[in-house]
Amino acid sequence: MSQDLEATLAEAKQKILACESAHALKDIERIYVGKKGVVAGLLAKIPGLPAAQRRDAGKTANQLKQAVLQAVTARQGELASSEIEAQRSGAGFDATLPPGRTVRGSLHPITQVTRELEDLFQSMGYQVLDGPEVELDYYNFEALNIPANHPARDSHDTFFCEGDGHLVMRTHTSPVQVRAMERLEPPYRIVVPGKCFRQETTDASHDHTFHQMEGLVVDKDISVAHLIGAMKTLLRGIFGRDLEVRLRPGYFPFVEPGFELDARCPFCDSGCSVCKRTTWIELLPCGLVHPNVLRAGGLDPDEWGGFAFGLGLSRLVMLRHGIDDVRHLLGCDLRFLEQF
Ligand code: DAH
Repeated sequence: MSQDLEATLAEAKQKILACESAHALKDIERIYVGKKGVVAGLLAKIPGLPAAQRRDAGKTANQLKQAVLQAVTARQGELASSEIEAQRSGAGFDATLPPGRTVRGSLHPITQVTRELEDLFQSMGYQVLDGPEVELDYYNFEALNIPANHPARDSHDTFFCEGDGHLVMRTHTSPVQVRAMERLEPPYRIVVPGKCFRQETTDASHDHTFHQMEGLVVDKDISVAHLIGAMKTLLRGIFGRDLEVRLRPGYFPFVEPGFELDARCPFCDSGCSVCKRTTWIELLPCGLVHPNVLRAGGLDPDEWGGFAFGLGLSRLVMLRHGIDDVRHLLGCDLRFLEQF
């Protein structure tokens, strides 16, 4: 190596040894062996040298590079071990400092309501069941007395999965009714909280993904009175007091008779914006399980009966917290979520 280069190397080593941080070391490394560094400059001059000198020039430039890299690696090791040493000896550790602030998360309002209702229903002897979100057309429609070409399919704007058309993103939690009938020995009571999907144009009251809680009771001699009793208990659990209820006829192919159940507005006595000045709020659709659904689940409708309901959890959360746009619920905006 020429004297010039010896001097350059000596200077580089000195600077490397003086580095007190990995960051400073990186800067020095860049100055010598970086893309536009000293070594790169030497290599760039080679094509202009007389042919006889080129080989040696290339060799010495490489030697310089290797020597610098070696010194950098050695210094890296020294810095790392002195850091560990400092940690071990407790230098820089002050036991009297307050701990760093830990940010506490909270449960999503839908999770909160789901868990509360699961507790409530479990206390009434219901089991909590789960079902697939990608569902067979059979369970989502057919087994629920909605055959292909049935007009009720129109109201379920369905996402169909690629393939032979037998798989859909479930449009409601009702398919778990028949799955449960196939698995459980009656009598039983179940609730099924979960996500549902519809191909909706989203707006303040519609989202493509929303949450429902299905309820199903199968037993002997079930009547509308049992349904009303269960719904009153549900209302007491949600709003903390007894609320008057009323049934209006509603059509759902999997129940007969089918109803819309309204409850007295829990927020006012004489009409407010929540109940649209009617003093009634729509709580949920429900009804007595249709004999065809019982048959699809392998039950004899002459022996067994049941009631079912489909509670809109997203809507319930909106009611409870006065949320005016359903899209906030799954929007992942921390400013919204941090309020719960
Ligand atoms: N699955 C229905 C829907 O999402 C809601 C529903 C209506 C569920 C009546 C029920 C019921 O269990 O009895 O449109």
